[in-house]
Amino acid sequence: MPLIAITGTPGTGKTAAAAELRRRGYEVADLSRHIGDHGLKGEFDASRDTFAVDVEALKASFGRAGAGDGTVFVEGHLSHHLDCDAAIVLRCHPERLAARLRSRGYAEGKVRENVQAEVLDVILCEAAGSGMRVHELDSTDTPADAIAGMIIDIVNGDEALHGPGSTDWSGEMDRWF
Ligand SMILES: Nc1ncnc2c1ncn2[C@@H]1O[C@H](COP(=O)(O)OP(=O)(O)OP(=O)(O)O)[C@@H](O)[C@H]1O
Ligand SMILES: [Mg+2]
Repeated sequence: MPLIAITGTPGTGKTAAAAELRRRGYEVADLSRHIGDHGLKGEFDASRDTFAVDVEALKASFGRAGAGDGTVFVEGHLSHHLDCDAAIVLRCHPERLAARLRSRGYAEGKVRENVQAEVLDVILCEAAGSGMRVHELDSTDTPADAIAGMIIDIVNGDEALHGPGSTDWSGEMDRWF
């Protein structure tokens, strides 16, 4: 069964989309939980307010078997590093992403770092560089249930749907750098 990564900058809506997919009967592995359960959290990086994760150890630990029988999706901002058949990269307009992250209580430095990564297409480029099929969905004005519907369309329907290159936050560069 194909394994599909649902990835994107923190706050782009991976967990919200995953909840909708589960509601519709799909199994979605939670990569953050896997990292916690398998002791894969490395050193705490105080300057970035985040834990380091050894991606090679994560790949070895998750493998394809980590998803279990019948699981089609794995969600998390590192999921595109796994041995997946395709990556669905969720996107969000920088201003809206900043608002989502602030409402989580993130410090301004952490908001900025994540928004900069979004503006620079960091995860999209990482996923594309891995050679797997890549899709891109913008959650800025599309609720999580509709995002889940688009994900199902990709998986059940047309692999050419929602190809990469549809978002462009370059007009936001001056504001965030
Ligand atoms: N499609 C959407 N439209 C509007 N708001 C959304 C959408 N998806 C998620 N949100 C809201 O944005 C916030 C972040 O969403 P979520 O937790 O799903 O992000 P995430 O990508 O899983 O982040 P992380 O990588 O940190 O786990 C939440 O407050 C959520 O309610
Ligand atoms: Mg999440």
